[in-house]
Amino acid sequence: MKKATDILSGEHKQILKLIDLLCVRCNELEKEVEIDKEFFQKVIIFIKDYADKFHHLKEEDVLFVEFGKNLEDAHCDPTKQMLYEHEQGRNFVVGMEESLKEENKDKLIENACNYAELLRDHIFKEDNIFYPMINEVISSDTQNKILSKFKQVEEKIGLKKRKELMNIIKELGIE
Ligand SMILES: [Fe+2]
Ligand SMILES: [Fe+2]
Repeated sequence: MKKATDILSGEHKQILKLIDLLCVRCNELEKEVEIDKEFFQKVIIFIKDYADKFHHLKEEDVLFVEFGKNLEDAHCDPTKQMLYEHEQGRNFVVGMEESLKEENKDKLIENACNYAELLRDHIFKEDNIFYPMINEVISSDTQNKILSKFKQVEEKIGLKKRKELMNIIKELGIE
């Protein structure tokens, strides 16, 4: 049976590819004078619309909510910590946006690296600890309910935005 978390783990792979590329470009930027604004703007769009809306909203508005209804069967509840980490990620993205406006290279690298480190650790915890725990406590009916709600989240984002994201993924070479 297809699990809702399989979809999310697939999205994690896409996010990790972006993060790998971001770290490579930050290492290069250390030795450069000019910031490649176009590249970093694309990264910010990807993080805000793909990692945060397309992916995190499925967790926050659907998966974590359904898990919350089955807490009596779970041995702990990592939801709060996961939500806190999503929020930390958003703050690093604000920092990246500010750095681009200020043309502040060091601040940009610092925020991008902090984001990368946070998300790698966050994704590892979800894939290896939290998602398996969720799959243990939710029923197959709930799995199906979550899958159809995921579709609603994607539809809410809209076809135009999804196409724009697919183009950015192609342009960044992280397909
Ligand atoms: Fe998450
Ligand atoms: Fe996630």
